[in-house]
Amino acid sequence: MEALNRLIAHTIPLFPKGFVGHLSRHYIAGPSIDDAVRVGRELMREGCCLTMDVLGEHIRSTAEAEPYCRKYLELLDRIAGEGLDANVSIKPTQMGMALDMEACRRNFRRILESARRHGNFVRIDMEDTPYTDLTLDLHEGLVACFPGNVGVVIQAYLRRCMEDVRDRLVPGGANLRICKGIYREPRELAYQGRREIRDSFLELTRELLAAGNYLGIATHDEFLVEGSLRIIDELSLPPERYEFQMLLGVLPGLRREILRRGHRLRVYVPFGEAWFAYSTRRLKENPSLVNHFIKGVFRPH
Ligand code: FDA
Repeated sequence: MEALNRLIAHTIPLFPKGFVGHLSRHYIAGPSIDDAVRVGRELMREGCCLTMDVLGEHIRSTAEAEPYCRKYLELLDRIAGEGLDANVSIKPTQMGMALDMEACRRNFRRILESARRHGNFVRIDMEDTPYTDLTLDLHEGLVACFPGNVGVVIQAYLRRCMEDVRDRLVPGGANLRICKGIYREPRELAYQGRREIRDSFLELTRELLAAGNYLGIATHDEFLVEGSLRIIDELSLPPERYEFQMLLGVLPGLRREILRRGHRLRVYVPFGEAWFAYSTRRLKENPSLVNHFIKGVFRPH
């Protein structure tokens, strides 16, 4: 099955765009800010809050960051204008991290100036391991100028994660999202087994919640949702100290159940013109997602 998934994932860029669009329609709001606002409003009616992501990553020249940067500025104005309960999530390589760190920092600062003006928040997504240190450094520099307006992501599959948490992220009081990690990483750097990754996720969650860091618990794994709820209960944490986070289109039943039990739930809403590249790249990185995409085609709505 895995070999078949890999084959489909690698040939998917050759499939007609309409077909890939059909596969990804549950996971992506659409090409425009209007689409993100429309989908965001529906989710807010359900009781969710949002984080919005302008699709795009790994630009090839620093000039390519400019339209993305402007789109985020427009998005922050629009979120404020529409009164949406939404912040934004940004990939560092979309802002030029792989090309020019200074340009990347400048772009993030521009977006953060706007976020601060609007009283909003920017989540720096975490990409693959060549960017882990650079992203943590970027985050630290930005927190110094924009405290309260910026946070970063940690990936529980990384063996280094607890050290980063204890050495840098707890002492800095960082606002964090914890997730398993989506990229294919070598065994020396990342746990590969389901059980090890789950153990790491819950140990990190306990460490961060006990230390008082605000934590976005980003998972669709019920085992981790229940494990995190037990930790929250043991620590007697009030709902404003944490939130759950899920991706658009994934397990809406679990999403509603978390809301029903009185917890804050933020949905990650990706949108933008780069949806085709995003869908095909995600599938190549993680062929097991093919199963989810294929299930999405047959799922009744
Ligand atoms: P798991 O993969 O075990 O999924 C549990 C169940 O959820 C599956 O059995 C399936 O039913 C369903 N499911 C999961 N993913 C699905 C999908 N795509 N489509 C359909 N069903 C799906 N990673 C990263 O490296 N850097 C980052 O910045 C982020 N940011 C981020 C934000 C948010 C809000 C979320 C929810 C996730 C991320 N991730 C991420 C991705 C994360 O690292 C991880 O790869 C996915 O969340 C899948 O892991 P789960 O914990 O959901 O468990």
